[in-house]
Amino acid sequence: MCGIVGYIGEQEACGILLNGLRELEYRGYDSAGIALLEEGRITRFRAVGKLDNLVHRVGEYQTSGPVAAIGHTRWATHGKPTEANAHPHGLTHSQVVHNGIIENYQAIREQVPGDFLSQTDTEVIVHLFESLLAEQPDGEDAVLKAFRATLNALHGAYAILLVTETRPGEVFFARQGSPLQLAQAADGVHFASSDAPMVGVCDQAVYLEDGHWGVASAEGIRLFDEQDQPAEPITAPLLATSTAAQKEGFRYFMEKEIYEQDAVVSDILTGRLTETGVRLDELPDGWLEQFTSITLCACGTSYHAALTGAYLLERLAKVPARVEIASEFRYREPVLDPTGLFVVISQSGETADTFEALKLAAAQGLDTLALCNVDNSSIVRAASHTVLLRAGIEKGVASTKAFTAQVMALWLLAVHWGQVKGVLDADTGGREIEAMRRVREAVAIQPRVHDRLHRLSKRYLHGHGFFFIGRDLFYPLALEGALKLKEISYLHAEGYPAGEMKHGPIALADAELFTIALMPRSRLYDKIKSNVEELSARDSTIIAITTEYFELADDIIQIRAYDHPMLEFFEMMVVCQLLALEIAIRLGNDVDMPRNLAKSVTVE
Ligand code: F6R
Repeated sequence: MCGIVGYIGEQEACGILLNGLRELEYRGYDSAGIALLEEGRITRFRAVGKLDNLVHRVGEYQTSGPVAAIGHTRWATHGKPTEANAHPHGLTHSQVVHNGIIENYQAIREQVPGDFLSQTDTEVIVHLFESLLAEQPDGEDAVLKAFRATLNALHGAYAILLVTETRPGEVFFARQGSPLQLAQAADGVHFASSDAPMVGVCDQAVYLEDGHWGVASAEGIRLFDEQDQPAEPITAPLLATSTAAQKEGFRYFMEKEIYEQDAVVSDILTGRLTETGVRLDELPDGWLEQFTSITLCACGTSYHAALTGAYLLERLAKVPARVEIASEFRYREPVLDPTGLFVVISQSGETADTFEALKLAAAQGLDTLALCNVDNSSIVRAASHTVLLRAGIEKGVASTKAFTAQVMALWLLAVHWGQVKGVLDADTGGREIEAMRRVREAVAIQPRVHDRLHRLSKRYLHGHGFFFIGRDLFYPLALEGALKLKEISYLHAEGYPAGEMKHGPIALADAELFTIALMPRSRLYDKIKSNVEELSARDSTIIAITTEYFELADDIIQIRAYDHPMLEFFEMMVVCQLLALEIAIRLGNDVDMPRNLAKSVTVE
């Protein structure tokens, strides 16, 4: 969601903050702003829209000398993306940036005096802070106490940075349910951030837990836990070089990430395949055998990976599998199998709903496993065990290579579990391993196919909707294909199990309804063919993704023939991703930063 950065030091701070925000822009790009506390005075810049507008607004301004500074890039939750709603929010002597949601902001607005200039929940933080500070008796720790009292009054989720002219050189921070890290360079505390833009600049990351709060200055960090006891910072070295991704000649990060999927598959398989089996060294020996069921929980694209995983786990490991959308699971009062395994799947490791679902399962005493792309993320740190996805940084807001890695990880888990449980015979296991080794080939982009999709895309820029249909493993893929298209093209698209069309949705069928039919040769071909025939009979325009010639298709995107459904799955997945990309580019959309979205959803 929003991204926040902070800096304390003597280097020119505008450039440092803007570079940090550039790294965090994937988290939100409705507006951005910075506040610089120099010589006891705060200067603030804010601008609507992408970060470049803020860069333009800051212009030639530079800091010189010691500075404590904060910055923010926003994904709007409360109030429209306007300059008045952009962070930092200030009052007379303080400025605050915030990621998360203050649930009781209306009640606080009624309590604290003063005019509010924005529609945001965040602005109450600074009003409350200044009013509580005014009530504090003077003393060395008056500001720290007022900051703590402010936090006590807030309900909801937050990562907060605050600067005040009453304490030059200090940045007050707090983390509750939204990600925040600090980082130190050799000569002191330098950065705070929602993610890791300090990579390459700082040597040590300081990971904060929920409930942690305190104040950072050039002298060091004063860190407190939820009970206000001094807490020991958890530090870890940061890599020496920046891992910031570059587009490397591709038009968009999303395109580059689609093309990287063969390398991602190699990485995720490295060291995990033996001649006949799967090794998952992350999981203790004998650990999986104790579980009688598996619950897979996630959001969005990761949820689609979970659905795919459920088919694989039931088929290969014969373990009852259920799949949950994290935002529904949280409030459903779910009854969990006490001897079941609870698995969360998340690219970012920071998705609020998934994180809370994980905590809920752990609180019921279940063992938990995270399949996650970001080491040291909140989800990784909270799970009992983790299998890292090894997909590399994913910058495009629409997830592509992380989905591939998630499905691969679930497939590895299913085969491994089937083998250790003794339900997967050697022949079937061998066939799975052989197919896994060929996924690289299935996801490698064939220029012929990309070129065809580019040409074809011009016919599908209108219409009243797309139906992606599939059966079995190809049903979650249909959901994912539809999600990719709607996210970046803003065209209406739905994924449906092909057999369900006649139970209602077929009423929409006409020539302007585009049906993208996932027709694998290796699984239920004749069944899906009949479903497509029903749609064709109602004049729906059919785009078939298949190995065969199919006379009813208005357009065919031909994939290679494979003898394993997962290979057809992965090749069709690439087709869906590229089709969405090409349609969105033709429509002139910003593929990497589609409207209304953000990469990491740290609010519920
Ligand atoms: C879609 C997309 C989202 C995420 C969802 C969960 O392209 O990226 O639907 O999959 O927000 O995010 P993670 O996987 O980070 O928990």
